[in-house]
Amino acid sequence: MENSIVLKNITKEFKVLNRHEGLKGSIRDLFSRDYKTVTAVDNVSLEIKKGEIVGYLGPNGAGKSTTIKIMTGILKPTSGEIMVNGKTPWEDRTSNCEKIGVVFGQRSQLWWSLPLVESFKLLKDIYMIEDKNYNDMLDFYASIVDLEPLLHKPVRQMSLGQRTLSDILASFLHSPEVVFLDEPTIGLDVAMKSNIRDLIAAINEQKNTTVILTTHDMGDVDALCKRIVIIDKGKMLYDNDMEHLKKVFGSYRTLSLRIRSSQMTDDFITSLEERFSPYGISISTENNWVSLVINEDRIKVMDVLSGVQENGSIKDMKLEEISTEEVIKRIYTEGI
Ligand SMILES: Nc1ncnc2c1ncn2[C@@H]1O[C@H](COP(=O)(O)OP(=O)(O)OP(=O)(O)O)[C@@H](O)[C@H]1O
Ligand SMILES: [Mg+2]
Repeated sequence: MENSIVLKNITKEFKVLNRHEGLKGSIRDLFSRDYKTVTAVDNVSLEIKKGEIVGYLGPNGAGKSTTIKIMTGILKPTSGEIMVNGKTPWEDRTSNCEKIGVVFGQRSQLWWSLPLVESFKLLKDIYMIEDKNYNDMLDFYASIVDLEPLLHKPVRQMSLGQRTLSDILASFLHSPEVVFLDEPTIGLDVAMKSNIRDLIAAINEQKNTTVILTTHDMGDVDALCKRIVIIDKGKMLYDNDMEHLKKVFGSYRTLSLRIRSSQMTDDFITSLEERFSPYGISISTENNWVSLVINEDRIKVMDVLSGVQENGSIKDMKLEEISTEEVIKRIYTEGI
């Protein structure tokens, strides 16, 4: 299969002014040229095949958006090689734009005061989309989302969810080879998130569009991504199938216990932490529930259960596989 995207040892550094505190510091900043270097992306190598949906994950400030900006040609890397659809994006910005679509979750790329359909017509002209392809695409969209009420509404009057949906539809309109979605579901309600995930999945399946998705919402990952790449402080931590990740964490369980409210004290939680931290168990609480993430290679669920029972009375319990959320959190905090 052909590659959509290839990154070889991509690094991006930003020079930022080293700010000093206080009045003296501000005055000094006015005259000094005291810069420091921030390495936003640090020697990242990556190959993404045509038609893949890749979740590009990492905590805040990890370097995700910077990588996307390099892939879309907005930024030039400090060093390394990059190819998107066989071309170097920052060198061939125009031809790169024809073959990609981009959505940045919080910013709309649509014409604010125009009804959506007018924006679509402008895009049709800009990208020189043929009538037949354009009409087919609208029919295709109408088969997945409720398009008609959106088309005649000025973007300015849309809700955040409608606008995001419109932005995504617009980004796929010219049948790009690759679409970059930077936090497409941020701030949306559960129903709209699910709409948008269905839409992305349907387009990917029908058109074999490559999709690079950054998100902090593990629901997006569960619904869409077979493969994930995790980056932190600019460095790549993980690149593999979700299935592989689930296998690595296959011995993990989340045990949730509802404790009698009078016993849910700080002392109780501290005693659990002291008892179970040697086994690498992490503990969180919500209302009267205690959740313990257990690695069964180190201690059995039954032993944890009886250990808890010695100090508190259990009113209810749930045993689940470890969630994607929990897995990713562990990789952020402990690595893999
Ligand atoms: N134009 C810029 N000038 C200076 N520093 C920048 C610039 N853009 C990004 N950075 C820095 O690079 C690092 C990575 O930022 P980036 O926006 O890529 O993170 P991110 O993974 O997208 O985070 P988030 O999840 O919060 O969106 C951060 O330390 C950020 O402050
Ligand atoms: Mg970002």
